[in-house]
Amino acid sequence: MTIRSFHPPQRILMGPGPSDVSPRVLAALARPTLGHLDPVFVPMMDEVKALLQATFLTANDLTMPVSAPGSAGMETCFVNLVEPGDTVVVCQNGVFGGRMKENVERCGGTAVMVQDEWGRAVDPQKLEEALKAHPEATIVAFVQAETSTGALSDAQTLVGIAHAHGCLAIVDAVTSLGGVPVRVDEWGIDAIYSGTQKCLSCTPGLSPVSLNTAAREKVTDRKSKVQSWFLDLSLVMGYWGGATKRAYHHTAPINALYGLHEALVVVQEEGLEAAWARHRTNHLALRAGLEALGLRFVVAEADRLPQLNAVSIPDGVDDAAVRGLLLSDYGLEIGAGLGAMAGKIWRIGLMGHGSNPRNVRYCLAALEDVLGRLKAPVARGVALDAANAVLAGA
Ligand SMILES: Cc1ncc(COP(=O)(O)O)c(C=O)c1O
Repeated sequence: MTIRSFHPPQRILMGPGPSDVSPRVLAALARPTLGHLDPVFVPMMDEVKALLQATFLTANDLTMPVSAPGSAGMETCFVNLVEPGDTVVVCQNGVFGGRMKENVERCGGTAVMVQDEWGRAVDPQKLEEALKAHPEATIVAFVQAETSTGALSDAQTLVGIAHAHGCLAIVDAVTSLGGVPVRVDEWGIDAIYSGTQKCLSCTPGLSPVSLNTAAREKVTDRKSKVQSWFLDLSLVMGYWGGATKRAYHHTAPINALYGLHEALVVVQEEGLEAAWARHRTNHLALRAGLEALGLRFVVAEADRLPQLNAVSIPDGVDDAAVRGLLLSDYGLEIGAGLGAMAGKIWRIGLMGHGSNPRNVRYCLAALEDVLGRLKAPVARGVALDAANAVLAGA
């Protein structure tokens, strides 16, 4: 067998991530590879740091992309901040809170779980009660934007409660960064991680993280070594730190960093506020169309993420058949349900570069056609008008 070059088909990615990568980012990836200590490359790393600080709205010096996907950003925060014997309150309202629990336990900590119904925001009152019941807790962790359900939690309030009880707050902003407000310094977030493949419209595989002084001190004061050599921030910062001299830690993913640089320049050119407003407008247009079709949202209106629209699959409709036809006939990917939501919901992403009126209209037209062909109980001929009415008023 002769194996030939791989040429992927052109898709429209409207699932929970990866989202469509901006052509500017794809072009940046193809630029010549430099050495990771090249005198031209190092200043670009400083720009990546500065652009990340601007995107996280933070002055934290310890702000950089981990050379691995969002899961590694999560692990970076937990392995550095959690020591054996620590108690961590983890708020769970979907799949990713469950991964935080795994991380705490693998670090030798005890996870106190605060459970909320999937599809709802984290309840601040429940966090307050858990912290009263566990005065030994030193860290609170939660997911700001639960990708498995499309629910947005109030990060500012949750961080405030954590601090009132003397805890540091670890925040998962994988799906939130670039799509909804994430104000690291104003909200006092101690440690935060994100991903490049959602609202930043970069390729998957990097994880921006940022730690404030309090979190840094907890890392410096550790009694035990961080059990992961690769993710140990005291070592990684020898390469990413602001010092004049950079030491080899690992071979940085050079071209991926060009991509991230370009993605962050795109965000900066548009402006964060404008990007958040765009995500909201396109969400409202998609929502109008989906509801006109007869589909129901999973998350209550006040807690909905604009970049991830979770709708219930109508009774009797074949989940896999719908997604299969969207992919084969329209080149359109929407997301299936994850974990407890598998087979029950679809997750339609409008993230970053992909959050635009064309994708809203394309997705509605494709869904209407496919659902109609499968004899699903949907209204015909009204979805696009509903979306257009919103877009016309925007
Ligand atoms: C909220 C959240 N946290 C963490 C992750 C893990 O990121 P990655 O898949 O890039 O490792 C994801 C991925 O979808 C996510 O949505």
